[in-house]
Amino acid sequence: QGTWHDAAALSALSEGEPYGIEIGHHHIALYRVGNEYYATSNICTHAEALLSDGMLDGCEIECPLHMGRFDIRTGEALSSPVEIDIQTYPVRAAGDRLEVCLP
Ligand code: FES
Repeated sequence: QGTWHDAAALSALSEGEPYGIEIGHHHIALYRVGNEYYATSNICTHAEALLSDGMLDGCEIECPLHMGRFDIRTGEALSSPVEIDIQTYPVRAAGDRLEVCLP
């Protein structure tokens, strides 16, 4: 299920700095935590702020608008005011590129 898409150079992804991209109509946020990479929807489920403008704290992304938090590994909504989980996407490294699998 899903299709793999080229997303970004691995070198573009810095620890603790979310990176926003668009693939077709999908807004995706990419994250690096140590040597692990993650991808979620970039649109907060509360009021459509861009999570890539937020602060990454370990594996939690904090929305810049109302400080709601999501776990980037599972998409789980962790703290008020966010209640709806965020979509996550599988990622894989391919050479020096990161690929993301979209539905
Ligand atoms: Fe993200 Fe409100 S828009 S917490």
